[in-house]
Amino acid sequence: HGTSRINEKGHLEIGSCDAVELVNRFGSPLYVMDEALIRERMRRYVKAFQSTNLPFQVAYASKAFSTLAMCRVVAEEGLHLDVVSDGELFTALQAGFPPDHIYFHGNNKTPQELEMGLEVGIGRFVVDNFVEMRLLNELARQKGKTVRVLLRTTPGVEAHTHNYIQTGQEDSKFGFDLVSGQVLEAVNSALQSDHLALEGFHCHIGSQIFEVDGFRMAIKKLSDFARECEETTGFVTRILNLGGGFGIRYNGDDSPLPVEQYVEAIAEAVRSGFADAEQLPEIWVEPGRSIVGEAGTTLYTVGTIKEIPGVRKYISVDGGMNDNPRTALYQASYEALLANRAPAPPEETVSVAGKLCETGDMLIWDIDLPKVKSGDILAVSCTGAYNYSMANNYNRVRRPAVVFVREGKAELVVRRETLEDLTRNDRLPERMLAAEP
Ligand code: LLP
Repeated sequence: HGTSRINEKGHLEIGSCDAVELVNRFGSPLYVMDEALIRERMRRYVKAFQSTNLPFQVAYASKAFSTLAMCRVVAEEGLHLDVVSDGELFTALQAGFPPDHIYFHGNNKTPQELEMGLEVGIGRFVVDNFVEMRLLNELARQKGKTVRVLLRTTPGVEAHTHNYIQTGQEDSKFGFDLVSGQVLEAVNSALQSDHLALEGFHCHIGSQIFEVDGFRMAIKKLSDFARECEETTGFVTRILNLGGGFGIRYNGDDSPLPVEQYVEAIAEAVRSGFADAEQLPEIWVEPGRSIVGEAGTTLYTVGTIKEIPGVRKYISVDGGMNDNPRTALYQASYEALLANRAPAPPEETVSVAGKLCETGDMLIWDIDLPKVKSGDILAVSCTGAYNYSMANNYNRVRRPAVVFVREGKAELVVRRETLEDLTRNDRLPERMLAAEP
């Protein structure tokens, strides 16, 4: 992927940085992010939309991978930012991200989160439900502000990896249900809220989507609704946010479309859904995985090896489900290679286990590799999205460092956790302090 290649030493190189040297310098395990590839993905979205000649905006979904440096890259590339918590918002603000280009998602934003968003002047809130709508209007009134909002809808279309289904009354915790008429009710309610300025609608039909039919269907439903809504309420849709979900290639079984094809299909569906060319809404998307997923590689060091004759060979690495819970959680499938002798042909089928005390702590089931030795560096690819952002301290394991690589330079963007970090928030009750063990 991206700027990866095998160098003269037979080592994997990412962004012209030798993976073995990265481990020597920054330690193991290590998340390596190819900054050039991240930027290239962002530019491709922008370019693809530009060539549709439709008004658009691309936001990056922080949840896939959020750090100060990442927020800087998003800002530098001129993309907007989707946040779903005060933590993601704080990270963006700390990075100097323009608040006006941030919008806030979530089905249960706390009053404190709403206030924080209002205070710092974020661009928009994507209102998810009636409780939030009342609260946000009230808080905005108290601050003497009017806030711009989109309504999150569930259009009754759900996309899965290889297909989509129409689910009628969609059973989801998110948003206003289109099928049962909740969205219209929400529009009326928003129009009556003095401190809310309604601008349009949002939907997100799924993640890791490989086809365009789900997007087309959702646009059809929302554009039909927008027409009906204009007739009954007079509200003209100015923004149509279609969420994220564009797929990436984790392995040979995955067949995502090029970004341009998703964008073209979306543009076409919007053009035919909104017949009045003067009144085309802005199309917004908020990809996460497809911006950072393929840009990330996790480097691990192989430790112990266990062979059960005729059954399986386990090779254990120095990380696991704490830095990448996706295999255990979603049966995700990853590809990997030995970064210290990459061109060697495969000789054996092994399974890559983590070091945590749980049988389910596996990173890869059944992968063909050259004969693996203790001390080898294993590079697992496509770990840029939902790895660091979902990492945790299970077993009190420290989260790895993150480096950005670019043109032969590697820069630390998240330092490795220390043992002290693990007990930093712990407190001993007085009585325990008094009694020395
Ligand atoms: N917008 C909304 C409202 C979302 O809920 C999501 C993802 C996105 C945008 C970004 O979707 P993307 O382009 O990244 O597919 N942890 C799971 C993925 C959860 C996705 C949740 N929502 C995983 O590791 O596969």
